[in-house]
Amino acid sequence: MDQQHEDRAVPADWAALRAAAVEVMGRAYAPYSGYRVGAAALVDDGRTVVGCNVENAAYGVTLCAECGLVSSLHAGGGGRLTHFVCVNGDGAVIMPCGRCRQLLWENGGARLLVETPRGVLTMDQVLPQAFGPEDLDAVGPAAGS
Ligand code: THU
Repeated sequence: MDQQHEDRAVPADWAALRAAAVEVMGRAYAPYSGYRVGAAALVDDGRTVVGCNVENAAYGVTLCAECGLVSSLHAGGGGRLTHFVCVNGDGAVIMPCGRCRQLLWENGGARLLVETPRGVLTMDQVLPQAFGPEDLDAVGPAAGS
């Protein structure tokens, strides 16, 4: 695995994080696609947060595993994500979908480490030139306001 971006003081235990993702994947509710996903992340205060996908008969209402993870992050006191991994029903590491990369960007930023099928990458490699909170500050007041 490419560890070149593993620059935190304490190297993360990626195997343990993957195991947490596999465990929560087992609780996925995916009766429509049959595609289970589990996600796990470390928070900057040492917590581990997890999520699984939750589908719906109205297919578009489906919640990705990352949605549950981010909800758990905030419900559990907030903080910043530092390390993230998600797995499929075989326990293989997969990439977060495009929408969920945006969720991860918001809650971990450019330096969030993501385990991918190609090794550990930073979030800004996984979502280059991301739109983020600073873009909202980059414009002046709206005309007429
Ligand atoms: N899914 C996730 O939970 N996260 C992703 O990043 C990719 C897709 C789920 C949504 C849906 O329940 C199933 O995988 C098939 O798309």
